[in-house]
Amino acid sequence: MNKVNKGGLEGIVAGQTRLSTVGIDGVGLTYLGYSIEDLAAHAGFEEVAYLLLYGELPKVLDLANFVRRLKERRGIPSRLKTVLEQLPASSHPMDVLRTGCSVLGTLEPEVRFADQYEAAERLLACMPSILVYWYQFQHTGLRIEVELDADSIAEHFLQSLHGKLPSELDRRAFDVSLILYAEHEFNASTFTARIVASTLSDFHSAITAGIGALRGPLHGGANEAAMELIERFQDPDAAETSLVEMLSRKEKIMGFGHRVYKQCDPRSDIIQVWSKRLCEAVGQEQLYAISERIELVMRREKKMFPNLDFYSASAFRCLGIPTPMFTPLFVLSRITGWAAHIFEQRADNRLIRPSAVYIGPITRNWLPIEQRG
Ligand code: COA
Repeated sequence: MNKVNKGGLEGIVAGQTRLSTVGIDGVGLTYLGYSIEDLAAHAGFEEVAYLLLYGELPKVLDLANFVRRLKERRGIPSRLKTVLEQLPASSHPMDVLRTGCSVLGTLEPEVRFADQYEAAERLLACMPSILVYWYQFQHTGLRIEVELDADSIAEHFLQSLHGKLPSELDRRAFDVSLILYAEHEFNASTFTARIVASTLSDFHSAITAGIGALRGPLHGGANEAAMELIERFQDPDAAETSLVEMLSRKEKIMGFGHRVYKQCDPRSDIIQVWSKRLCEAVGQEQLYAISERIELVMRREKKMFPNLDFYSASAFRCLGIPTPMFTPLFVLSRITGWAAHIFEQRADNRLIRPSAVYIGPITRNWLPIEQRG
């Protein structure tokens, strides 16, 4: 009989990918060979999206055409707008994105796998529109225009949400956060998308399933949970006292720990710098100081480091983004990684179907219902 691992498929190699390396030797993240530090310092999110979808960094003309196609694909079909208007204002925006993706799959289905690049670009371009259209309709009653002339996804999202052009600091901070969230090897949602793709199902089904997996607080939902934690405290001392108590009750602190990284999450250092800049720019130094103290206590008490979600929380807060939209922002970016993995799975497919060790009752004789006592 095969040996069962300690659960959660920890340490199990479940396939191959050329898209990213995560935590080789406990540290580091690369997308197709490029370090996350280089990408976050020099690239725009659209360049990174192109890299993931097409396997190489774009040349000048490639990028211009890609950006133009994304701009042209921002619109939402009227029947999808009708669905969005029917969803309750109390819906979680992750559920709205999951529904929006699924509905788009009925209105604009991927008929042949050859259409997969178009389907990916379409979703990448219009998911921000879906999110903000629903949000503005349900919270302000306005049917906003989503086909803005913004050059980047970061600008498009922030402008649609706030009704004005973002500052350069805000635009770039948001852009970097999209780069950091874009791809992460066989994480739970990507693996989910690959499983669906491995059945030869359609693109929208795979992405819809990925959104469902990302929603939980052990995965993408951690950034929202981290914000809820940080906002509970008036000052760093209160945070420290409360955190020590939480740890003594063996509570998990969201935004810390990682299945693969053992020394640090390289994305955290990058977003932390942006979080600090943003907090200073909007006079939220206390928010940053509380976050830093939580990090200090976690390192001291548990030898644990923040993951990408922890400092993303304060960064998103300073960008004026409502907390329930934090995980959806992850979707807007991770569509690229999911899509690239779907392409990769399809290019060399075999059904993903593992086995289980049976731990149920031994074989039993059938009893007619009247004899069951
Ligand atoms: N806070 C406090 N303790 C934590 C912790 C956290 N965030 N993450 C892990 N631990 C502790 C567990 O309680 C467990 O302790 P024990 O051995 O005494 O029971 C030990 O570390 C191992 O944790 P486990 O949940 O088995 O690790 P995992 O590899 O299955 O989980 C995560 C990885 C990311 C799911 C986990 O660290 C976690 O739940 N973090 C918070 C959620 C989060 O930030 N998710 C986003 C990931 S990018």
